[in-house]
This record gives sequence, C-alpha cells and structure tokens, in this order.
Amino acid sequence: MFDFGRDPLAHFQEFLREAESKGLPEPTGMSLATVSSEGQPSARTVLFKGFYQNGITFYTNFEGRKGREIAANPKVSALFWWPILEKQIRFEGTVEKLPRDVSEAYFATRPRLSQLGAWASQQSAEIPDLDFLQNKLKEFEKKFEGKTVPCPPYWGGYVLIPQEIEFWLGRQGRLHERYVYQRQAEGGWRTFMRSP
Ligand SMILES: Cc1cc2nc3c(=O)[nH]c(=O)nc-3n(C[C@H](O)[C@H](O)[C@H](O)COP(=O)(O)O)c2cc1C
Repeated sequence: MFDFGRDPLAHFQEFLREAESKGLPEPTGMSLATVSSEGQPSARTVLFKGFYQNGITFYTNFEGRKGREIAANPKVSALFWWPILEKQIRFEGTVEKLPRDVSEAYFATRPRLSQLGAWASQQSAEIPDLDFLQNKLKEFEKKFEGKTVPCPPYWGGYVLIPQEIEFWLGRQGRLHERYVYQRQAEGGWRTFMRSP
C-alpha cells in the first residue's frame, strides 16, 4: 500500500533501494529535461548523486547545453524509470547550484580520469574529431602531473527542489497507480491520485 503519510523522498529512496537490490544497471540514472529560451525541450541522462536539504542532486558542467539552459530557466523535470520494477518517478521543480564547497568535496572523490575529463571537455561544444579530445586530455594530464586535480570553476552540482513528485506503479489491466505530491505555498504537500 502506498502511504501518502510518508515524505515523498522517503518513497523515492525506497524505490531506488529496490532498484539497486535487483542489480539493475545504473539505477541512479535519470532523464533530465531542460528547456531552451526558445521553448525547445531537451533531455539527457544524468546520475542522481544524493540529497541536499529537500532536493536531489546531480553534477555536471555549468557551461554545457543543460547548464546554459538552466541559467536562463531553472525549471526542469527529471524522470526515473526502472522497467523490471514497473515503477517510474517524475520530478518537476527548480534547480539551484550546490554550495561550492559541496561540489568541490564531491569532485575530490571522483576517479582521477573523470577529474581530468572534466578539464578536457568543453561540454556540448562541437569538436573536430576524437583526437582533439584525446589531445586535450593529454594536455591536462601533463598540467596536473603529480598534483591534485582541482574542481574546474565551471563544473559542479545542482539540487533539484521538487515542486511536484509523481510516483507511477505499473498494475494489471493498465489500472496503473499514480500518486502525486504537490508542494503547497504555505508549506507541506497536497497529495492526490491521478487517473492512469
Ligand atoms: C548512464 C549515463 C549517465 C550520465 N551521467 C551524467 C552526469 O551525471 N552528468 C553529466 O553531465 N552527464 C552525464 N551523462 C552524459 C549526458 O547524458 C549528456 O550527454 C551530457 O551531460 C551533455 O548534455 P548537454 O549537452 O545536454 O548539456 C550521462 C550519460 C549516461 C548515458
């Protein structure tokens, strides 16, 4: 039984733990949709990395397409779908940058190659070929040889503060269950179901 009395992020955590326990590949992968200033939506996968205050976090390059779109319009949607669980969760809300020290602390835990990759890649920019990228990587390997790789100033985390979270549970005969939490201006959540 789905319990509206529980915090929605507790439900999310439980769904995610279930997905992890089934050994699904990349259970923390979520489709993140942003919208351009012309109203063109775009989606891509990013990894959920944890909680910050009342939201969910992910890390990326602030100057790539999604970063630029977020800077102009912080409203996003994020979607998890775990097929074998027949469960889906949709988040809608606004993103904010995480405090710098939080991003830097996370960056320090990343594998060295990923850290160097963050320096080598100007995310979303057109490049001539793969050699271009590999040469950039070599450049930064040399630059930071024997040193700690610092977090690039244009790289870090965002927290998605949900305005609405919808849980979808696949059921027989297409009578799927949809449970919605909507944040209320006065605090707390309005909870209700939607028809499948
Ligand atoms: C499984 C998977 C996980 C990914 N995780 C991230 C991530 O956490 N952060 C990120 O910036 N890109 C991640 N990517 C790459 C993005 O999907 C995307 O290609 C990249 O962020 C550039 O997107 P943009 O040009 O729309 O900004 C991931 C891709 C896949 C397939």
